[in-house]
Amino acid sequence: MTDLLAGLSLRDLETRNRIAVSPMCQYSCDPDGLPTEWHRVHLGSRAVGGAGIVMTEATAVSPEGRITPHDLGIWSDDHAEALEPITEFIREQGGVPAIQLAHAGHKASKERPWEGHVPIQPDETGPSGAAGWEVLSPSPDAYPPFDGDRPAMRKAEQDDIEGVIDAYRAAAERSLAAGFEIAEVHAAHGYLLHEFLSPVTNHREDDYGGSFENRTRLVREVVAAVREVWPDDKPVFVRISGTDWLDDRESWDIEQSVRLADDLADLGVDLVDVSSGGLHPDQSISGGPNFQVPLAEQVREGADVAVGAVGGVTEPEQADALIRNERADLVLVGREFLRDPYFGLRATGDLERDPDAVAKEWPVQYRRATQR
Ligand code: FNR
Repeated sequence: MTDLLAGLSLRDLETRNRIAVSPMCQYSCDPDGLPTEWHRVHLGSRAVGGAGIVMTEATAVSPEGRITPHDLGIWSDDHAEALEPITEFIREQGGVPAIQLAHAGHKASKERPWEGHVPIQPDETGPSGAAGWEVLSPSPDAYPPFDGDRPAMRKAEQDDIEGVIDAYRAAAERSLAAGFEIAEVHAAHGYLLHEFLSPVTNHREDDYGGSFENRTRLVREVVAAVREVWPDDKPVFVRISGTDWLDDRESWDIEQSVRLADDLADLGVDLVDVSSGGLHPDQSISGGPNFQVPLAEQVREGADVAVGAVGGVTEPEQADALIRNERADLVLVGREFLRDPYFGLRATGDLERDPDAVAKEWPVQYRRATQR
């Protein structure tokens, strides 16, 4: 029986366990998108802490694709060069470095959460002193009223769409040069690709709006561009919102997610990472332990692709049960990895009976801590 401590094999990659650090924005770059000491220590600690996969935060494929001016980016060779020591360290610690490639769409140009998360207009600076910019939207008229205030927007025209696809392709090439082994396309949480997927935010009448095929076109084109440059021996993931949690209106739902997951598998996607929501403030989400797992399970049952579950996982036994009961192939852990950077080592200690095997998972520098 497969369990949480069993490696996950995808193409030529094998992870040491099925625990991944879920992507989490740190908003800790200067307004140049370059990683800082914070990123090196933050991501490095979780590799030391036993995660099988250490994924970066949403990393912007272009400057206008950042949520805030302080987001991490991968739009130049300087970014790739600055990220390389981080991927090297993660690998040295036995982890697999992964990058989440993102474009924030019309949710871009905001201040950091701890500076109010307010929109910054293109000709203004926010409380942090950083300047804003005009954001890209599939349909500016459909921008959901998150807080009554919105940044200045531009409707994505054909050349903007081609620019986004090219930016994803170039970002994937740079990610490879930086030493990442998994590229995850962020198509969830109300950011650009999800904005195209959902009829709530996509009111277009061209080839990118209307039917399921049209609304999914941009995601499919972005994934095809990434897959084109990402080597055959390395996996590609896509994070989706399994549902908008807006059952009272025409929206993105689990049936469409299953259908999309199958299409993505045909394009060479190896794992679909199933999150949810983030598109509209009317969403009704329950939260709590395993709150998104039923969505992951439905994608796993309905589509021919490996699936990652995320949300409300805090205990090793809980994560282990998701794998043993074949509800998911990978467990992504977010906030618990902020509370405990050593969640991976904790899982090995809790789930592995052989003390020698436990000790082997610990960094040599820390191994004496496994002796009582
Ligand atoms: C997040 N989340 C998130 N998701 C994503 O796809 N890209 C991102 O950059 C971020 N950023 C982020 C920052 C912080 C501080 C938190 C807490 C969360 C969502 C995250 O990856 C995860 O899906 C959720 O937190 C649910 O999982 P947990 O926290 O219940 O394990």
